[in-house]
Amino acid sequence: MRILLLTHAFNSLTQRLGAELQRRGHEISIEFDIADSVAEEAVALFKPALIVAPYLRRAIPESIWRRHVCLVVHPGIVGDRGPSALDWALQTQEAEWGVTVLQAEAEMDAGPVWARAVFPLRQARKASIYRNEVTQAATLAVLQAVERFAAGDFVPTPLAACRDVHGSLRPLMRQADRAIDWQRNDTATVLGKIHAADGFPGVADSLFGRACHIFDAWPESTLRGAAGTAPGELIARRETAVLRRTTDGAVWIGHVKRADGIKLPATLAFAAESSLLPETTLDGWWRTGHETWQDIAYEESGSDENAVGFLHFEFYNGAMSTAQCERLRAALAWARQRPVRVLVLQGGADFWSNGIHLNVIEAADSPADESWNNINAMNDLALELIEADGQITVAALAGNTGAGGCFLARAADLVWVREGVMLNPHYKNMGNLYGSEYWSYLLPRRVGEDGARDIMRNRQPLTAQAALSSGFSDACLAGDAHAFRIDVARRAAEIAAAPDFAARLTAKRERRAADEAARPLAVYRAEELAHMRRNFYGFDPSYHVARHHFVRKSLASWTPRHLARHRDLGWKVPA
Ligand code: COA
Repeated sequence: MRILLLTHAFNSLTQRLGAELQRRGHEISIEFDIADSVAEEAVALFKPALIVAPYLRRAIPESIWRRHVCLVVHPGIVGDRGPSALDWALQTQEAEWGVTVLQAEAEMDAGPVWARAVFPLRQARKASIYRNEVTQAATLAVLQAVERFAAGDFVPTPLAACRDVHGSLRPLMRQADRAIDWQRNDTATVLGKIHAADGFPGVADSLFGRACHIFDAWPESTLRGAAGTAPGELIARRETAVLRRTTDGAVWIGHVKRADGIKLPATLAFAAESSLLPETTLDGWWRTGHETWQDIAYEESGSDENAVGFLHFEFYNGAMSTAQCERLRAALAWARQRPVRVLVLQGGADFWSNGIHLNVIEAADSPADESWNNINAMNDLALELIEADGQITVAALAGNTGAGGCFLARAADLVWVREGVMLNPHYKNMGNLYGSEYWSYLLPRRVGEDGARDIMRNRQPLTAQAALSSGFSDACLAGDAHAFRIDVARRAAEIAAAPDFAARLTAKRERRAADEAARPLAVYRAEELAHMRRNFYGFDPSYHVARHHFVRKSLASWTPRHLARHRDLGWKVPA
C-alpha cells in the first residue's frame, strides 16, 4: 500500500514506523504537518491508500479525513483524550498505560478505535517512556491497524462502544499542576514532577533566584555536608549538575532552560552562581554503591582470567560536549588499563550518543570554535577506542544513536544493537555537515565504498535489523532493556572465555597495523577535519543555521526532499 505519514516532525517514533512499514513492503512518503494546504497537496500528489499520523500537534483538516482513512497514534489508553496524555499518566502514577490508534474525525482523539496496546508504566522521564514503551506499543498497534485496514473487512469500534474504557478527557497540563513546593515535597514527589515534564516543557521553577525550567533529575541518597541546610536550598555541584535539598533528601538537577534561553547543563546556564557552590566529586570512575548522579560509571564482572569491564555514560539526550568527551576519554583510558579481556561501552539507557553537543555549541561565545573543540574531543575519544589493543571492545547500543555517535560506536570492534533502537549514521541533515569521528575509515570497511556513499547520501534512519543487514552492526539483540543487558553481558563473557581469545586479539592488532600502514588514521582525520573546518569557518553558514533551528526547535517550513518522495521531480503514482 501507499501510506503517507503525516507528522509534526521526523522524530524517532515516526522513523521507526516508517522503517517497519517499509520492511513489510509498503511504499512510504512523509509530509510534515505545516499547513492544511500543504497536507492537502501531499495527499493529492501521493494518492495514499492510507494516512498514518504518528505525531501530530493539531487536528487533521476535514478536507482530508472526510475522504481518506487517517489513523492517528494517541499516546494514551482507550478513552484518554487531550494533549498531556503521558504527563497526567506519570503524575497520577498510573500502573498501566497504553497507545490507541484512532481514526481521525471531527473531535480530536475521539474517533473509532483501530488498535490498542498497553504496557506497565515505569516511573521515568516522559521522553524515556515515549522513546521506549510508547514507541514499542505504537509500532505494534499501527502494524495491526494497517493489517486490519488492508484486510478490508475490519470495522473499527466507536469509542462509545469500546469495553474497558478507563481513560477520560484531560486538559492541557499547566505549570500550576507541575509546581514543586520545596518546603513540602519529598524527593520522590520532586522526581515524579520533573520526570512528567521531561524533555518538554520542564517544570517552571527558579534557581539562584532566577526563573527557569528544570529537567534531568536524579536522587541523591547521601547528604554529606548538608547539615543545617533547608529544603529548597542549593547545596552542592558536580560537573554539570547542581544538588538541591528536598524535605527528606536531595535531588540533582542536570539541565535547565532560562527564560528566553535554550536547554543547557545547569552549571553552564548558571556558571558564575554555581561555581560558588561546594563541589562534591566522586572518587574515580567505579560505580558508586548508592543512589546519586553519576554520568560516567564503570563496573566489572567475571573472574581474573576472563573479566569484562562495562563503561556506562549517561549523557542527557546523548549529546557530548567537549568536557564530557574529555572525561569519557580519561575514563576509557583508565578502563583500558584494567585487567579485563572485553570492554563494553554501554552508553546511556535512552541514547548511546548523538555526537557533539549542539546546545553547548550554540551557547558558546564562538560556536565555530566550540564546534571545532568538540569535534576534536570526539575524535580523540574515537581514537582512544580504535587504538584499544589490549581488549576486544564492544559498543552495546541500548538507546538511539545518531550522527557522530554512530561512528564513535563503530570505533569499537563490535556493535551490538537492541531491537527497537533507531540509528542515524549520517551527518548531512545538520546543514550538510561533512562529519568526522574517523567515519571515512570506519564505515567503508564495513559496508564498502558504495554502501558508505549511499548511507551518507540517503540520510535514512536504520532500524537495528537494517543496521545488521547493511553490515553496519554485528548483532541485533533482545528488545527488552533488561534482557538486552543480560544478553550483552553473556556474550561479552563468552568472548572473554573463548579459547580463541588470544588469536582474536592478535588478529585485531595485525589488522590495525596493516590498516595504519596502508593509510594512517591521522590522514583520515586531517582530511575529514579539512571539510569540517570549512563547515565551521567557511563562507557557507548552512551548519550554523541548521544548528540554530535544531536547538531553538524552529517550526519546519517544508518537508526535506529526501523524506517527501511524492515531491521528487518526475514522481508518478505507480499504475
Ligand atoms: N546535541 C544537543 N542536543 C541534542 C543532540 C545533540 N547532538 N541530539 C539530540 N539532541 C536533543 C534534541 O534537541 C532533543 O532535545 P529535547 O530534550 O529538548 O527535546 C532531544 O535530544 C531528543 O532529540 P530528538 O530529535 O527528539 O530525538 P529523536 O530520537 O527523535 O531523534 C536524532 C534522534 C539523532 C535523529 C536527532 O536528535 C538528531 O538529528 N540529532 C542531531 C544529531 C547531530 O547532528 N549531531 C551533530 C553532528 S555529530
